[in-house]
Amino acid sequence: MAIIEINNLVKKFPVGKGFFTALNDVNLTFGEGEFTGLVGPSGSGKTTLLNIIGSLDTPSEGSAVVLEKSIAELTHKQSAKLRNQHIGFIFQTYNLLPVYTVYENVEFALLLQNMNGTERKKAVMQALEWVGLTDKIKSKPNMLSGGECQRVAIARSMVKKPQIVLADEPTANLDSKNSHHILQTMEKLNEELKTTFIFATHDEKVMKYMKRIISLKDGQVDNDVQINHSETSNLKL
Ligand SMILES: Nc1ncnc2c1ncn2[C@@H]1O[C@H](COP(=O)(O)OP(=O)(O)O)[C@@H](O)[C@H]1O
Ligand SMILES: [Mg+2]
Repeated sequence: MAIIEINNLVKKFPVGKGFFTALNDVNLTFGEGEFTGLVGPSGSGKTTLLNIIGSLDTPSEGSAVVLEKSIAELTHKQSAKLRNQHIGFIFQTYNLLPVYTVYENVEFALLLQNMNGTERKKAVMQALEWVGLTDKIKSKPNMLSGGECQRVAIARSMVKKPQIVLADEPTANLDSKNSHHILQTMEKLNEELKTTFIFATHDEKVMKYMKRIISLKDGQVDNDVQINHSETSNLKL
């Protein structure tokens, strides 16, 4: 079943007296448990597309239907609820709160949920266990490496077990070893929880983990391929 359906999506941004078309007639569907890379050069529309799927922005024309909700038709309150309950975000720059500890940064994602303290603690500790950071719960972000910060961000995005996780260049600031660790963690969560992951990336290292690769070019889908890893495992991607 499709959990994301994008039909004839157009996104235009006002620029000067005219418009810049960042997405131009995009049609895509995503099913449950997909692990997809959205690739393409800088400026091709990756972030714009993730923002619309994540209900942080709205279509100019066409539609994006996420978990049966049409993004264009949601009120602010409804889109906040959709994000809060069902969508996790991971950003290139981690976006951790510097004055809070690792534990508090992850817990923060649950504060708007109707959960008691015991349940919340259990969920936070489980999420930190997924990313292998239970020994750092009291550390603040400035005491952590880039890879560890990104693992906290993954824990924060996953703690509410969202159906969809959107990651915008999640490995852009990481070295190769940390990038692989991050991807292996997400791969494991994808398999265990059936979370749908969509990664915007132009990092070659990310590609070989993907089960599907969608290439964007000038705001349009240029290519959309399913990757069969048993056939491509000998290929150098
Ligand atoms: N708020 C905005 N106003 C004007 N132009 C924008 C805005 N956001 C993005 N764009 C333009 O849309 C294009 C696609 O941007 P983006 O989705 O960020 O690309 P990518 O993430 O693939 O690098 C770029 O040319 C960018 O300059
Ligand atoms: Mg971008």
